Amino acid sequence: MGKYIVLLGPPGAGKGTQAEVLSEKTGLAHISSGDIFRENLKAQTELGKLAQGFMNRGELVPDDVTIAMIRERLSRPDCKAGAILDGFPRTPAQAQALSEMLAQLDGKVVSVPYISVPPAVLIERLSGRWTCRAQGHIYHSQFHPPVKAGVCDEDGSELYQREDDQPATVERRIRVYLDQTTPLIDHYRQAGLLVEIDGTQSIEQVTSALLTAVE
Ligand code: AP5
Ligand code: MG
Repeated sequence: MGKYIVLLGPPGAGKGTQAEVLSEKTGLAHISSGDIFRENLKAQTELGKLAQGFMNRGELVPDDVTIAMIRERLSRPDCKAGAILDGFPRTPAQAQALSEMLAQLDGKVVSVPYISVPPAVLIERLSGRWTCRAQGHIYHSQFHPPVKAGVCDEDGSELYQREDDQPATVERRIRVYLDQTTPLIDHYRQAGLLVEIDGTQSIEQVTSALLTAVE
């Protein structure tokens, strides 16, 4: 049976940073809904064009579009053993759709680490974030700097600042998260799957707490 791990946490909590490491350590695929939207945006697909306005405003892409995109992604062979889900589900309707998809794929959610970080810290993290153009590797000018400024350590590609990391958009994204995604914390707590992780610790400390949680 496929093992699926859902990473919950506000924008800037460290979901992408940690999913990358967890994926390496567990061998499970890393599925980031935000990364898939950004790849589509870069390739100017219909999906990318549709998502762009929502993303730039800091709002969620509609559920039907997001669910169809993830359904297709999870049906691929590299997800058969399971996956680390980063940024999906984000609404109760998406959580419901996920449980239906996994039932069909003979998989289940085995753990839901919730990386908790207060808003003031999130703003500091997102304003200093630099992302790699080629593969989305994540850096921070202060907390996780690349060896050479502006260049990805892993693949040498250019680092850029995300359009939606501007302060006004970050504020909107945090509000949207509080309104639409926080109900999932209780949902997964009631299901006995939630593990709360203190996301204000160092990147390495959060990784080790997560590894304990998902073992
Ligand atoms: P998405 O890309 O998922 O953005 P997000 O959820 O807002 O989260 P972020 O990627 O901003 O943060 P993160 O938690 O991954 O943090 P990171 O590891 O980078 O979504 C973008 C948009 O796409 C949405 O707004 C929406 O429009 C759309 N979308 C996506 N999914 C959707 C869905 N399911 N439904 C509808 N719409 C959807 O870390 C942040 C920074 O902090 C980095 O610089 C990092 O180096 C640093 N850092 C990380 N951990 C630490 C630490 N412990 N200490 C110090 N610094 C740290
Ligand atoms: Mg991310």
